[in-house]
Amino acid sequence: MTTRRLVRRLGGLAFGGDYNPEQWDKSVWEEDDELMRRAGVNLATVGVFSWALLEPKEGHFDFGWLDAHLDRLHANGIAVDLATPTASPPPWFTLAHPDALPVRSDGTKLVHGSRDTYCLAAPAYRGAARRVALALAERYGDHPAVAMWHVHNEYMTLCWCDHVAASFRVWLHTRHGSLDALNEAWGTAFWSQHYTSWDQVLPPRATQWHHNPAQALDFSRFWSDEALAAYVDQRDAIRAHSDRPVTTNLMVPGYQNLDLWAFGREVDVVTIDHYPIAPGVDAAADTAFGGDRARSFGGGRPWLLMEQGTNTVYAGDRVLAKEPGEILRHSLGHVAHGSDGALFFQWRQSRAGAEMWHSAMVPHAGADSRVFREVTALGAALGRLGELAGSTVRAEVAVLHDSDSWWAMNGDGLPSAELDYLGPLRRAHRALWDAGVTTDFARPDDDLSRYRLVLAPALFLLSDASAENLRRYVAGGGTLLVQHFSGVVDARLHARLGGYPAAPLRAALGIRVDEYRPLGSGEQVVLSDGSHGTVWSESVRLDGAEAVATYTGGMLAGGAALTRHRFGDGHGWYLSTRLDDANYAVLVDRLLAGTGVGPDLPDLPFGVEAVTRHAEDGRRWLIVLNHTADVMPLPAPGHDLLTDTTAHELPPGGCVVLSLP
Ligand code: GAL
Repeated sequence: MTTRRLVRRLGGLAFGGDYNPEQWDKSVWEEDDELMRRAGVNLATVGVFSWALLEPKEGHFDFGWLDAHLDRLHANGIAVDLATPTASPPPWFTLAHPDALPVRSDGTKLVHGSRDTYCLAAPAYRGAARRVALALAERYGDHPAVAMWHVHNEYMTLCWCDHVAASFRVWLHTRHGSLDALNEAWGTAFWSQHYTSWDQVLPPRATQWHHNPAQALDFSRFWSDEALAAYVDQRDAIRAHSDRPVTTNLMVPGYQNLDLWAFGREVDVVTIDHYPIAPGVDAAADTAFGGDRARSFGGGRPWLLMEQGTNTVYAGDRVLAKEPGEILRHSLGHVAHGSDGALFFQWRQSRAGAEMWHSAMVPHAGADSRVFREVTALGAALGRLGELAGSTVRAEVAVLHDSDSWWAMNGDGLPSAELDYLGPLRRAHRALWDAGVTTDFARPDDDLSRYRLVLAPALFLLSDASAENLRRYVAGGGTLLVQHFSGVVDARLHARLGGYPAAPLRAALGIRVDEYRPLGSGEQVVLSDGSHGTVWSESVRLDGAEAVATYTGGMLAGGAALTRHRFGDGHGWYLSTRLDDANYAVLVDRLLAGTGVGPDLPDLPFGVEAVTRHAEDGRRWLIVLNHTADVMPLPAPGHDLLTDTTAHELPPGGCVVLSLP
């Protein structure tokens, strides 16, 4: 899992985007050649959605057009990230294989007319996807233009059809071993759900009331494994004929059908798509959130931003434009967090089709446009940063992040609709980002000993082994903050008995929770230190820990709300409510101070970000991004690679990349 081969081939950071010449004619291709040279593009992702062109009839391939484009790009000095087109089966496919169409949980069968109209578990689809990948690999495995393979596009669609039911049963059999074990794991004694034969077991299709949460969790686990197997099918077909790195572009925003940690292990380079979901400083924080996750999924190695928008900020029900300068700043934000380049969806804005209003490197207005001028400036900037390629980012703090807890919290029947997984995860990362601290994500069963501080904002599900791992981490000298409603169910989604959280973690935290007190909508609790909590509160019994703050009213008055426990060589903290943002930030700052973790550049004003990239040979670069509208003096002048001058300050919205002595 490394970008090493790719960046060596490119001679520096990657720059470019999805290139769909099949939407255009020859005169436009000639202009593309010229504009790509002008912009400094060195990598184009080709063929993502071109199945209909590539295989116009089942089993009959037409490679002529693709040969021509690959040769043209190669002659123009542009390397190709060659995609398999399997995210968009052509109409002939769905007519020939109607059983491979996706079915929603309510039984609605979807038809072609959009994209992603397939079921990953349908044998006809899997066979066809393997066939296309193999055909491409046989023909282009050694093509000089091909620098990387791009399998599929954003695995994420779900299906509840009969093929899925059959695969799910096989998966369940492997996981549980027997129907008795499945009945036990799913708690089917409740609501008379006891299964007496495997064919009674279904995916969680639309039903009358709450789904069985353990069934839903197993379905999420199964589906992620199914998607990974579909990726591995294609990857292995390609690897049989090509030695170039293989990836699939992961989607990292707020929904999740995949265990991205597992994908991180199977791709040669972690690549992600990232579209900010809010403007301004929030977009920068979101970029860091996506980038830190991408890096962590790949075990800390450099990764690659496969897609972003030149002029796209998804803000609820509308798409906002980016402010001048943000194309560069957002791209460098990704580079700061470990990306070895910046690519876009897409090169040229489509004239027609479902995404004709999605921004591109060459907008409808053409090259004489602000967007293309900024794209060209970005190409030049990345060209000056080639020496950063392959360097990494180091963190002393980790936020625990695992798919099981996320999926489990999506289940029906939790005690408050305001309990969610992603909100606390983002808040923990944001508090660290606001403090200027570089953050990794880690799984609860990872070796955490290299982190001085670990935050566990949403660890609803915790296996016995992970609970023991966290106990060991604290005993060994770590500082751990566990937040409310964590460690409360085991890997089978069975409640922990005898008090929450799981026993080994209770030992590390020195507390025992004997009752949850969900708060009403808008209700607040006031703590003895003046901070406020919402959503949730708990009856926390001290069992060795000290109360740092207590509840001041209601039935919990006087009871511990925030606790600290000296355990072994470390400290276990527990927070039993959702603090307001400001007080949560104060708590995180206190933990940082206590563990001696500081920002990469001290005393940075709000909205200025600084991250260091480290090369194996000891060279270091400090990337400083000013997300504010004010001039920001640098604490110390430094040599800026972007301008090849000594920088003393950052202009409003400006960026510098300082090579450190
Ligand atoms: C990505 C997707 C692209 C395009 C883009 C538009 O998630 O991979 O194909 O749809 O979104 O934002």
